[in-house]
Amino acid sequence: MGYDFNTAVADIVDNSIEAEANNIWITVKFEGAASWVTIADDGAGMDAKTLVTAMTYGAERDYDVDSLGRFGLGLKTASTSQCRCLTVASRTNPRRGTIAIRQWDLDYIDRSNDWDLIILERQECPLQLLAPLQTHTGTVVLWERLDRIIEYKHPEGEAARKRILQMCRELESHLRMVFHRFLDGSARKGKLKIFINGNQIEPWDPFARGEPNTQALDALEFQVPAHGAVSLVRFEPYILPHRSRFSTIKAFEDSTGPDKWNRQQGFYIYRADRMIQSGGWCGLRTLDEHTKLARIALSFSPKLDAEFKINVAKMRVHLPAELRKSVEEALAPIIRAAQLEYRQGGKEGAGIRGGENSPVSRAQPVRKPHQNGHTPDYGSSHGPSDSNTWTLTALRDRLMAVANEKEQQVLRRLFERLDETLGGSRSMHTRKGDVE
Ligand SMILES: Nc1ncnc2c1ncn2[C@@H]1O[C@H](COP(=O)(O)OP(=O)(O)OP(=O)(O)O)[C@@H](O)[C@H]1O
Ligand SMILES: [Mg+2]
Repeated sequence: MGYDFNTAVADIVDNSIEAEANNIWITVKFEGAASWVTIADDGAGMDAKTLVTAMTYGAERDYDVDSLGRFGLGLKTASTSQCRCLTVASRTNPRRGTIAIRQWDLDYIDRSNDWDLIILERQECPLQLLAPLQTHTGTVVLWERLDRIIEYKHPEGEAARKRILQMCRELESHLRMVFHRFLDGSARKGKLKIFINGNQIEPWDPFARGEPNTQALDALEFQVPAHGAVSLVRFEPYILPHRSRFSTIKAFEDSTGPDKWNRQQGFYIYRADRMIQSGGWCGLRTLDEHTKLARIALSFSPKLDAEFKINVAKMRVHLPAELRKSVEEALAPIIRAAQLEYRQGGKEGAGIRGGENSPVSRAQPVRKPHQNGHTPDYGSSHGPSDSNTWTLTALRDRLMAVANEKEQQVLRRLFERLDETLGGSRSMHTRKGDVE
């Protein structure tokens, strides 16, 4: 199915969000071969009948339009991609402490050659399965016999322990990113809280919108036909500041993202506010150092699942053919703005190059004011670094706006040549006082 530890946990978290949980507690416990993982929530929970359906592979269910689930598989496939034994305990009644418990044990299935869903009584269960449900409704998913996680000859050894620690760090980066709209409260009423081994995680905003020099360019909406109607895809481009124009070195480093700047450029694709893809250009462009500051949020509704070809692990989508051309056209000015920020920021940064860690550069981020005091008309709420450059960018956009389709093609080619010439002649860009 293509899961790894992070995407598998995220698929379980999806279920908790759908059950309207406000808190999700993830515990990863290293105990050698007996290591375990729990994902507990305070959502609506499931009664015994619902739990049996939930444990059934591909059980049919109606989904709301903004539902995070889709296939009726995630709970089982994500879990067994990481462990040999999956146990789920769930409580629906806030006043009565009844808990339904079911288990898939792959070793038992291997031995018996029967797909028996095991019913467990409370007294047969470990504390970590029941304790989170003592005071409220919710669900606990327990993974044991972590065959994909603890693969070491010596599962009690230091290497296995270190691996688990590293996995927890990576999990935190992944969940901060994938669920940032839920964690910051923008996806729905109230902020979701996620804890890993007791520590609450903070949302990670890929667009560094808290930074004064981040540029929010004009958002667009594209219509995609689906099931006899049209559904909207929202396109929100951002140009992150060059390193030298971040408020602090720490803010710059925090914005890097789990895969670092170069691989984090491109599209951030959200389905029902949950991030499916982080970075990359969906085959429309290649990753390029000069455009690494461009990040674009692309949000679609589950009504377009078929068009986006979402996969079970919810970690891959394809841009629908109907959308590719419009998105490609919309990219041109964004790419130029990103290249410009990269070059201009580079020039500003020249003064502190090599002194990145010096106290001066840490304490005083470099920021240029507008030179002529007027606001550029490039759909950005934040200022440019160089008014001459803005004029040229605005001119390009105006030319594109008045040109017909054929003329636009010629213009695009000319702009590309111009960019190549400028990008190619490094000496020109590092010369003091040089402007585009
Ligand atoms: N934490 C939970 N709280 C309440 N109900 C849950 C929870 N986890 C799973 N369920 C129920 O179990 C069902 C099956 O979950 P599963 O993840 O296997 O499939 P899905 O979410 O419907 O679809 P997908 O395969 O796309 O994830 C869910 O539809 C939901 O009704
Ligand atoms: Mg699911």
